[in-house]
Amino acid sequence: MISDQLPTAKRVLLIIGGGIAAYKSLYLIRLLKTAGIQVTGVLTAGGAEFITPLSVGGLTGKQCYTDLFDLNAEAEMGHIELSRSADLVVVAPATADLMAKCANGHADDLASTLLLATDKKTLFAPAMNVRMWHHPATQRNIHQLKEDGAIFVGPEDGEMACGEHGLGRMSEPQVILSKIIEAFSSETSVPLPCEPGVPGGLEGKHILVTAGPTQEPLDPVRYIANRSSGKQGYAIASACMMAGAKVTLVSGPTNLPDPNGIKTIRVETARQMQEACMAALPADCAVMCAAVADYRPEIETAHKIKKERGGLKSIPLTENPDILKEVSHLDNSLRPTLVIGFAAETDDVLSHAEAKRRRKGCDWIVANDVSVGTGIMGGDANQVIILSDDGQEKWPMAEKTQVAQKLAERIAVTLSNSDAD
Ligand code: PMT
Repeated sequence: MISDQLPTAKRVLLIIGGGIAAYKSLYLIRLLKTAGIQVTGVLTAGGAEFITPLSVGGLTGKQCYTDLFDLNAEAEMGHIELSRSADLVVVAPATADLMAKCANGHADDLASTLLLATDKKTLFAPAMNVRMWHHPATQRNIHQLKEDGAIFVGPEDGEMACGEHGLGRMSEPQVILSKIIEAFSSETSVPLPCEPGVPGGLEGKHILVTAGPTQEPLDPVRYIANRSSGKQGYAIASACMMAGAKVTLVSGPTNLPDPNGIKTIRVETARQMQEACMAALPADCAVMCAAVADYRPEIETAHKIKKERGGLKSIPLTENPDILKEVSHLDNSLRPTLVIGFAAETDDVLSHAEAKRRRKGCDWIVANDVSVGTGIMGGDANQVIILSDDGQEKWPMAEKTQVAQKLAERIAVTLSNSDAD
């Protein structure tokens, strides 16, 4: 249930440095806002080569500050006040130059002046070329910043815009968001950031979420799987956690990091997922978003199947356990109050989804059209229809994080109504 007694929204001052990763900071702003965190943007001269103050201002809904000697801004809000008006200063991307300035107390532009003037914790999300990252000067500066109390997220290992490979990629916005939330929750004992309009109301509840694909092995090198990225399920787990729930996430293989503050159990096969889900019960609600393989190869061979022996011309399959059906049909003592399944369909979405809801015995089915053109499986956005005994409700296409937030809100209302019964 949404309460107007929730704590004041947290505020982040986001300094965007000059690097190709600056575009990811626009998405970070959206994630922060979705999480109920207020954002004020500051763009360095380098940052403004990659993205514009207009896009930062548009997304934050506030003026984007760029210049130390902007007299209008000084008249409205001086740089000292700006540096202290937030609960946390986040630098993303944090370039080698910006960190060097900060480590050495330079203040020759707005960003470095704010970093010197602030009395709040600073979180750096570095992004640079791998050689610049490993340079002793950069490492010295980072050591100094850590000594001074700064916190860091990333960088990650991977392919860089310059074509080289190694440490230096800025962490993904979702990972930075998790670190920001962690910083807020370790800094104070007050609940996670939220403001009126952002769902709460799952305090004291345990939510089981499944996500990602399953991989069904055929031999030591091959498996049957699907295109689920885990994004929708992870977003639901995070939204429920943000709303105050204890969350257990049972995830098939994905490229996503374990979300902070969530007990994450990694599995590969449907049978392992079934085992992990049963072990995680009891729960107040189960949200089965994983794309579980209905079938697995009948036999998993110990040795690689050889083409010459004709072993791959056909693969005998056997049925996997249906986890959703099993959870839906548990005894009242163990069955979650609310069991939510997903239906990934490509045609006759509504009729197939409703038939699935009845067949599997879950309370709600979240139907989505995963035809190739929709980009839903693996993408960042989703368009869902909620089917329940109350009928159907079509939600507009939205970021998966927004769909997750709305779903968490709906779950909170339903559980609180059933508590009242
Ligand atoms: O992971 P993303 O890239 O973000 O994409 C999200 C998604 C499209 C995968 C997600 O929104 C979604 O639709 N998940 C369900 C995918 C699926 O397997 O649907 P289904 O219609 O085959 O299965 C119906 C339901 O039964 C699902 O809740 C599934 O978790 C469950 N099931 C299926 C088979 C099985 N053996 N056991 C199950 O529990």
